[in-house]
Amino acid sequence: MTQEQTYQLLKRTCWIYTQNDVAKHLEVSREEVNRWLNKKVEVPKSYQFLLDSLLPEKPSHYADPDFTFIDLFAGIGGIRRGFERQGGKCVFTSEWDKFAQRTYAANHYMTIDEFITGDITQIPPSNVPDHDVLLAGFPCQPFSIAGVSKKNSLGRLHGFECKTQGTLFFNVAKIIGTKRPAAFLLENVKNLKGHDKGNTFKVIMETLDELGYDGITARIIDGQHFVPQHRERIFIVGFRRDTGFTWNDLELPVDGPRMATILEPENTVEKKYVLSQKLWSYLKNYAAKHKAKGNGFGYGLVGPDSVARTLSARYYKDGSEILIDRGGRKNPRRLTPLECSRLMGYVKPNESNFKIPVSDMQAYKQFGNSVVAPVVEEIARIMKPHIIANIKLLDKDDSQLRFVG
Ligand SMILES: C[S@@+](CC[C@H](N)C(=O)[O-])C[C@H]1O[C@@H](n2cnc3c(N)ncnc32)[C@H](O)[C@@H]1O
Repeated sequence: MTQEQTYQLLKRTCWIYTQNDVAKHLEVSREEVNRWLNKKVEVPKSYQFLLDSLLPEKPSHYADPDFTFIDLFAGIGGIRRGFERQGGKCVFTSEWDKFAQRTYAANHYMTIDEFITGDITQIPPSNVPDHDVLLAGFPCQPFSIAGVSKKNSLGRLHGFECKTQGTLFFNVAKIIGTKRPAAFLLENVKNLKGHDKGNTFKVIMETLDELGYDGITARIIDGQHFVPQHRERIFIVGFRRDTGFTWNDLELPVDGPRMATILEPENTVEKKYVLSQKLWSYLKNYAAKHKAKGNGFGYGLVGPDSVARTLSARYYKDGSEILIDRGGRKNPRRLTPLECSRLMGYVKPNESNFKIPVSDMQAYKQFGNSVVAPVVEEIARIMKPHIIANIKLLDKDDSQLRFVG
């Protein structure tokens, strides 16, 4: 490794982690790290190994992957993880949130000169690298499809240019239409199906169909098959050719785990996660008021045998949807970020190997926006044979075209 490469390694680690964290890991002062970063002093090459150990390892299959994919609206990589574990190699990532980018890079392998692309709406689809599978958990922003005539909203490229359709789904569709991957997986909230009396969903499915994809099918899956959290999300898959993909291949455990499997021992949890008296009283009063009005809103108190409600991106505000009951008259507490990583299935119970280089507030937001990782892993497992079959079929089509030409 050259001196410049060692410097780039330092820059990468200091982008993901704070200078303080890197300094602690190397057992040097923060000032020393700062001098290296500002090129006042050269980074001693002897630190290469320790710096490298802060970054994710290169997956062994990357030299010869079964398929390639791109990861759009990547968040912290919950969708990537499942497809990487099925032998896929990520060739392009887009995520504009700087904090999510850091968590993503802390947990997923990237070459030292690879970067995460920001705003996907600013990238011409032809600049996106070729890939076999497009993955996109596009944000559930309000859809402005209503009012757009069906003619305009369908797959014709000129339709996508229309300003009123400035939704991120159309950016995704445009990339699919331009790059024509063998398959795609889109993910969104369950309510996508019912939005605008089903029109939004209809336009999405019709648009994908117009792009020339077969076997387009959607399924709502609840994360609680794999983790102690009720989290329903819709998944839409499509293939260039219908090779018989069916959701019936899913293997969803019937009896999912309970909260006890993800909770840290109470005596190891920092006090800062316990609700203040003021906040706890406020939540109780708020819940009582709504109960009196006949509304079901309120906090969600959980114990070891419970399955939690859906973790939301606003969990950092008051944590009200999932509060851990600490028994007796003790105030409940929030989940810790480590418990959130388990609740989203990023790590197995008792493990703590998901790296969280950001503040608690950012971590809650990131986990609340993310997917239940084992759900995606299971979808990737059943999609894989159809991805491979499609790649082969497309190769055959190409060689026939070349022959005819
Ligand atoms: C619902 S979250 C997806 C989370 C992801 N599936 C995961 O596993 O963490 C949507 C993500 O899209 C990102 N995003 C929204 N608009 C974007 C844009 N125009 N370009 C790139 N990223 C964007 C948000 O910052 C957010 O992290």
